[in-house]
Amino acid sequence: MREQLARIREEAMAKLNEASSSAELEELRVKYLGKKGEITAILKQMGGLPAEERPKMGQLANEVRAVIEEKLTAAKREMEEKALDLRLRAEALDVTVPGKAPKMGHRHPMYIALDEMKEIFIGMGFTVLDGPEVELAELNFDRLNADEGHPSRDWSDTFYFDEQSRVMLRSQTSPMQVRAMDSMELPIRIIAPGRVYRKDEVDATHSPMFHQVEGMVIDKGVTMADLKGTLNTAVQQLYGEGTKTRFRPHHFPFTEPSCEMDVQCHKCGGVGCPTCKGEGWIELLGAGMIHPHVLEMAGIDPNVWSGWAFGFGLERLAMRRFKIDDLRLIFENDVRFLEQF
Ligand code: PHE
Repeated sequence: MREQLARIREEAMAKLNEASSSAELEELRVKYLGKKGEITAILKQMGGLPAEERPKMGQLANEVRAVIEEKLTAAKREMEEKALDLRLRAEALDVTVPGKAPKMGHRHPMYIALDEMKEIFIGMGFTVLDGPEVELAELNFDRLNADEGHPSRDWSDTFYFDEQSRVMLRSQTSPMQVRAMDSMELPIRIIAPGRVYRKDEVDATHSPMFHQVEGMVIDKGVTMADLKGTLNTAVQQLYGEGTKTRFRPHHFPFTEPSCEMDVQCHKCGGVGCPTCKGEGWIELLGAGMIHPHVLEMAGIDPNVWSGWAFGFGLERLAMRRFKIDDLRLIFENDVRFLEQF
């Protein structure tokens, strides 16, 4: 019996040392210490021992049980610690490590200029309209007084989709005047920014695709003075108070009278410099009083209503605003350029 207990002790220790899971530990506990375990089996045999041997054997058996119990507890704790350690290592989060700052983009310089423009006109009660870039020649030309034979309708200037020259990429945002007149209640106060297309070669000041912003007001008793007042207000807000403008006569088929508006050169203050090509002024936009025939074609009585419109190139505005000297930079999306704004 002594040898039996010694063997159990040795075997149990070896197995407990090898055990690698808590399930295995539990199995060993049942095998040695359980109700039907080996120690219990030994204790059951004690009845057959001589009376003086019994206490000694009992003590020995209890010692072995205690040793195994102790080892079991230690093994269990060790296993739990190992598991916890593993988990902690796997879930480790070092809150002192500097974070990766997310790279923030920002608005394109041209849209910064556009948003400023929108703010100014929204502040004066205008609504911002959006319209199609694929437009009917009827709206781009006919309804704007540019009949068949008008030079701007030429195939060498305009991108058409069909042989009959009925559908095209709009060459100006002015068809938005017609769309507004056709769809909105009078009086109307709108601006309509968007892309326009012309068959131009790419260079420092030209692109076959560029942006315009159209503006239009139709109301009773509207005059050229309102046009000048509104545009001057916008220019003061955009380029600073005291910025001078001048209006020169011009021709557009859909306005009468028509004009172009120049802004005093921001570089030289009007004396003349390379930026304004010695002129002292920089051309900013085309404008005029809406031609009575254009109103009539939209079913608006020119004896009751009058209006004005303007249109300008957004790239040119942004280039002036941010002192960009090559139009191509605006479209090339080189981040080294874009990051400067
Ligand atoms: N659409 C004209 C252009 O592209 C600009 C313009 C708009 C002129 C509105 C007068 C009134 O040149």
